[in-house]
Amino acid sequence: MSDPPSESVSPLPLVIAVDGPAAAGKGTLARRLAAALDLAHLDSGALYRAVGLAVLRAGGDPADEAAAVAAAASLDTGRLSDPALRAPETGDAASRVAAFPSVRAALLDFQRRFARNPPAGRRGAAIDGRDIGTVVVPDAPVKIFVTASPDERARRRFAELQAAGADVIYPAVLSELEARDGRDSSRAVAPLKPADDAAILDTSTLDAEAAFRAALDIVAQRAPGWRRLVQDVR
Ligand code: DC
Repeated sequence: MSDPPSESVSPLPLVIAVDGPAAAGKGTLARRLAAALDLAHLDSGALYRAVGLAVLRAGGDPADEAAAVAAAASLDTGRLSDPALRAPETGDAASRVAAFPSVRAALLDFQRRFARNPPAGRRGAAIDGRDIGTVVVPDAPVKIFVTASPDERARRRFAELQAAGADVIYPAVLSELEARDGRDSSRAVAPLKPADDAAILDTSTLDAEAAFRAALDIVAQRAPGWRRLVQDVR
């Protein structure tokens, strides 16, 4: 019988699926994991936001499937840095276009290719979204479902929007967030839910640093070949 792989052997490509509801801290966490472990990062929500924004800018209705799928089919995945992508109304439009199976299908292949062949020769990928661990990369070795109480998530989103100079009130932020979670969780296709084998990370009482450290522990547990690198990062 051959020996088990030694921890000094170079690690296998690593895919970390980071899913969870709005404003749970998925993006910050996935970006930090990617930077620390030399992985490519993909914010899959930006794809749905770009589709929603394209529909809005064309004067269309995000609830119109034909308009949404046309926008998804012609999406330029190289241009996902428009600040308008972060606006609350774009998040709302994203959640509406994301409920159409045809839109999801149009974006699936790009996400899967990103996971299998991470750009720029990276050693793997950290992808954040709603269905990465359940649908996009169900065989990802590390799945983290990041969550926090609705109040805490709304508080964070409110602070973010205020810091960006937006004229917002807390109750409106909370109700928008709850409406979006409700829509994302109840849709028929690829709803927001933890994969059966996801580690649940509740960040209600954790700051970004503590969440990052807890996530590194999960990576070390789930991807033993990466333990050495995780230790170096710590
Ligand atoms: O993560 P975010 O807030 O940028 O996502 C915006 C919307 O996009 C979200 O409300 C639902 C949708 N989305 C999705 O359906 N599946 C994903 N993998 C990522 C986002």
